[in-house]
Amino acid sequence: MNEKLQACLFDLDGVIVDTAKYHFKAWSRLSEELVIPFDAADNERLKGRSRVDSLEYILRKGSLVLDNDTKVKLMDRKNEWYLDQVKQMTPSELAPGVVELMDELRAAGVKVGLGSSSRNAPLILDLCGISNRFDVVVDGNSITLSKPDPEVFLKGAETLGVPPSRTVVFEDAVSGVEAAINGGFQVVGVGSSDSLSQADFVIADFEGFSMAELLSRLS
Ligand code: BG6
Ligand code: MG
Repeated sequence: MNEKLQACLFDLDGVIVDTAKYHFKAWSRLSEELVIPFDAADNERLKGRSRVDSLEYILRKGSLVLDNDTKVKLMDRKNEWYLDQVKQMTPSELAPGVVELMDELRAAGVKVGLGSSSRNAPLILDLCGISNRFDVVVDGNSITLSKPDPEVFLKGAETLGVPPSRTVVFEDAVSGVEAAINGGFQVVGVGSSDSLSQADFVIADFEGFSMAELLSRLS
C-alpha cells in the first residue's frame, strides 16, 4: 500500500458525470417562473451547494421572502424537472477515463468513495451502472452541512478508516475544493485552473490521467 495515498473521494456532479447542465435547465425554469434572472455564472456559484442553499441563493437574488412550505414545493418542482432529464442518463454520460482511474486505484489497494451533496446520487450511480464501484457512498441524504463544510468528505474518510491527509478529493466546484481544504484533504481540481486555483493541482479531465501521474503530482 502507498503511504501517501490510501483513499480517493470523488465528487459526483461535474466530476463523474456532467449534470450541471441539467441543474442549470431546471433552476433556470424555476427562476423564470419567479421572474428572477439566473445565468451561467449563477449556476457556477451553485455547484457543490445543497438544493436548499441553491434555492435560498436564487430567492436572495430576487429579494423574495417565502414561507417554508412554499420553498419545499419549489424545490420539489425543480427536482422533478431535474429528474425528467436525469432519468434518461446512461453509462455513456460517464466522464471519459474516470471509471478506469477508479478501477486502477482499487486494484492497487486504494479505497474509492463518493462525496456528493446530491440527494439524487444513488439514482445517478445506478443509471450509470457504477453503484458497486465504491467502498463508501456519502451523499446529500446523509449529511447536514453543505460544502464548503467538510462533513461529506470527513464522513467518507472516517468510514473508510483513512486519515484526510492520506486521502485525495476530486472536485469541480469552488465550494467543494474549499470543503476538502477545510477537512485537511489533498485536492485535485477537475476543470479550469482559473477558478480552482486553490486545489493542489488541476486536471482538465480524466482522459489519460493515471494513478502514477496522481502520485507524482502529490506533495
Ligand atoms: C451538487 C451539485 O452535487 O448537488 C449542486 O453540484 C446541487 O448543483 C447539489 O444543487 C444538490 O443536488 P440534488 O440532486 O440533491 O438537488
Ligand atoms: Mg461537483
